[in-house]
Amino acid sequence: MELFLLSLVLFAGYTNMVAAVTAPTMQLNDGNKIPILALGTYSGTGEVMRQTVNRAVEVGYRHIDTAALYQNEADIGKGIDDVIKKGLVKRGDLFITTKLWNDKHARDQVVPALRESLARLGLDYVDLYLIHSPASENPDGSPANIDILETWKGMEEAKQLGLAKSIGVSNFDVEQVKRIIDNSQIKPAVNQIEVHATYTQEPLVSAMQKLGVAVMAYSPFGFLVNRGESSAPPPQTDDPILTKIAQKYGKSTPQVILRYLIDRGTIPIPKSTNKDRLQQNINVFDFSLTPEEVATINKFDVNRSVFS
Ligand SMILES: NC(=O)c1ccc[n+]([C@@H]2O[C@H](COP(=O)([O-])OP(=O)(O)OC[C@H]3O[C@@H](n4cnc5c(N)ncnc54)[C@H](OP(=O)(O)O)[C@@H]3O)[C@@H](O)[C@H]2O)c1
Ligand SMILES: *[C@@H]1O[C@H](CO)[C@@H](O)[C@H](O)[C@H]1NC(C)=O
Repeated sequence: MELFLLSLVLFAGYTNMVAAVTAPTMQLNDGNKIPILALGTYSGTGEVMRQTVNRAVEVGYRHIDTAALYQNEADIGKGIDDVIKKGLVKRGDLFITTKLWNDKHARDQVVPALRESLARLGLDYVDLYLIHSPASENPDGSPANIDILETWKGMEEAKQLGLAKSIGVSNFDVEQVKRIIDNSQIKPAVNQIEVHATYTQEPLVSAMQKLGVAVMAYSPFGFLVNRGESSAPPPQTDDPILTKIAQKYGKSTPQVILRYLIDRGTIPIPKSTNKDRLQQNINVFDFSLTPEEVATINKFDVNRSVFS
């Protein structure tokens, strides 16, 4: 009995050390379920990315966001293969999102581009395939002027073939999303856009929610993290308002920001390749902000993207 208790304590100590936290899911308009927090992977490549996928899955991440543009699908694929071989998860436990780049917007280019992403990832389907941006380009980067309705027909083919369980868009405005909805068989399940405290995008976020299109929030930390700008707008990590909220819940200010995005009904995509920060960023499901706290954080909005 004592030995049993001791092993329980040791087991509890061990699991506490690993502290795996799994995000809840949300139902998309096509019936599929999406984990409400994803690992961002932009700018991570090679062995670092492979190891990051291993660590992320160990600490509980199930949703990974990549893109053909990021040139890390093969590294992420190796990480996915590792965690499945280790028996940590099955393919069906993971939710993999990737994106079609701007130079593959012609209808008949979509499925082949997805097949190339799948080959790099070592998968036979992705959970979510997104049009990365409404801007179509030629291979040299000049504008190609392909109608997004044409591109969307290719996306619908990808879903019908079972190569993508869900399909959606990224960086689309309300009119562009409405145009697809009004002229297509399948609605976009997701619009992935930049959302953070300095760029709350309230009209776009609520329009998507009214249309039943889930919002994935990219660059969730905004200017909280260093974007290489000397005059970055608030809030930053030591912001007094955020610090006060963070202290109330025993959390860090980046965790408060992720929770703020979740409490607005969006799906944040924090990127980290650091072991401790990876763990911190998913540990946001044991508290929630009050509507007043969400409103307080909304006041940081100055309509400023980190990309302009
Ligand atoms: N669809 C699109 O057009 C689009 C555009 C941009 C981004 N995205 C997606 O969104 C993801 C996230 O956006 P992002 O990479 O621009 O920015 P982000 O996730 O807002 O910020 C990433 C930065 O924050 C640092 N960081 C992470 N967690 C932290 C914490 N707890 N405390 C302090 N610093 C922390 C990271 O450094 P460490 O790695 O050292 O922790 C990294 O420098 C991308 O990776 C990509 O998957 C999509
Ligand atoms: C935010 O800025 C964009 C330009 O970057 C502008 O088109 C838009 O109208 C602004 N929104 C608000 C609410 O000021």
